[in-house]
Amino acid sequence: GILILMFFWDVQFGILFLFFMPALLLFMRQFMRKLTPIHRKSRKAHGILTASIRDTFDGIREIKIYGQEAQMFSQFDKWNQEYLDTVVQSSIIRAKWIPMMPYLLSLLSVFFLMIGGLLYINGEITLGLIVGVTTYFGLITRPLRELLPGIHGFNHSKAATERMLEIFNIERSIKDTPNACQLRNIKGKIDYVNVSFSYFEGTQILYNIDLKIKPGEMVAFVGPSGVGKTTLLSLITRFYEVDNGNILIDDIDIKDCTLKSLRQQIGTLMQNTFLFDGSIADNIRFGNPGATMDQLEKAAETAQIADFIHSLPKKYNSLIGERGIKLSGGQAQRLCLARVLVTDPKILILDEPTAEVDAITDSKLISAVRNLMKNKTTLVIAHRLWTIKNADRIVVMKDGRIVAIGSHNELINTRKFYQEFFASQFKDNTSKDEGEKI
Ligand SMILES: Nc1ncnc2c1ncn2[C@@H]1O[C@H](COP(=O)(O)OP(=O)(O)OP(=O)(O)O)[C@@H](O)[C@H]1O
Ligand SMILES: [Mg+2]
Repeated sequence: GILILMFFWDVQFGILFLFFMPALLLFMRQFMRKLTPIHRKSRKAHGILTASIRDTFDGIREIKIYGQEAQMFSQFDKWNQEYLDTVVQSSIIRAKWIPMMPYLLSLLSVFFLMIGGLLYINGEITLGLIVGVTTYFGLITRPLRELLPGIHGFNHSKAATERMLEIFNIERSIKDTPNACQLRNIKGKIDYVNVSFSYFEGTQILYNIDLKIKPGEMVAFVGPSGVGKTTLLSLITRFYEVDNGNILIDDIDIKDCTLKSLRQQIGTLMQNTFLFDGSIADNIRFGNPGATMDQLEKAAETAQIADFIHSLPKKYNSLIGERGIKLSGGQAQRLCLARVLVTDPKILILDEPTAEVDAITDSKLISAVRNLMKNKTTLVIAHRLWTIKNADRIVVMKDGRIVAIGSHNELINTRKFYQEFFASQFKDNTSKDEGEKI
């Protein structure tokens, strides 16, 4: 509006103004150009810094046991310094550039006054016009003066948003197909058809896996560490996409149904589980917020954790985590199992802990789970003899391949690799202590 007024009053001033505006905008653009890369670096350094702080707290025991305090401190110092450097750099640029704007604008005002004065002396314009133009010039430039500190904030947020979007975009690499169907009321049949998989190009983990699992079957997976047992089972929940082949549930390719409906059917208890700060009830209810007290109790009983919960003064309202009671590894595992069971999964995947649960609890636990999952499919990565004996079939894996399938008795009599593996893992395989680790 002011610009039009300028033209209306005096064409020369209008043109002069139009000439200076792009110069000012160019100045601001330069400012942004200087700041953006530093802000990007700064966000990245900040991310690494906070991650390293979190790791230090999570791993405080390990750090102390291995005497790595000094090493961790110097690492922290390095990241901290890196972050500090970016903050200092950005401050220097701001300190240099931001005061320049008012300075430039003031120079312009002087320039305008000089031209105005000359024109007045030559009698081309009136005094009133000069006063008018300079007043309005002040008005039009005030927002510009205020814009520059604002650009810093904008730029900072832009860098932060970019980092966030980067992370969101990674998450989105697995998504629903446009016509994805809902997986409902499944029977629990699972088919791996010629499945190959690698986390990174060039290092294949699974080779041509063919496996048919009947509804309601309990299948145990065994094999040396690192052969791909966990990987094979985590493909069912589609946290990773297979390279080749297909995984079908009730004859539906899991790629063709929505991730949400797929994961609703499946309960997973993986090797490293996580409990939230909060009450025991809240933690068990996590996957099924509407669960009744009865359902909680039943899940806790099956997971062999109910007795422990009842031994606590506040029972299900006991707080766990930072400000509450500390759980042993086995108790945490069983609580996590209760959390899975309360979602009433149609398919249950257990990555059996190798050490956390004692032998007696363990055999009770597997029997209870077996009982609860009678008509539901259960896949368990087994480290214990009791689990293997309870399974309908055992899948033996070696170097990313399935090398044998059968019951324990079949395999122990016919398969050399299984015999050897079994003997190496299980010192006294005629023993009666069934919960012993294999
Ligand atoms: N998230 C991941 N990213 C990259 N590589 C991975 C990842 N998880 C596992 N691997 C690699 O895949 C291979 C198989 O790992 P996996 O965890 O499936 O083995 P496993 O049979 O479950 O072993 P364990 O009995 O020790 O649990 C290993 O070589 C491992 O290094
Ligand atoms: Mg594993």
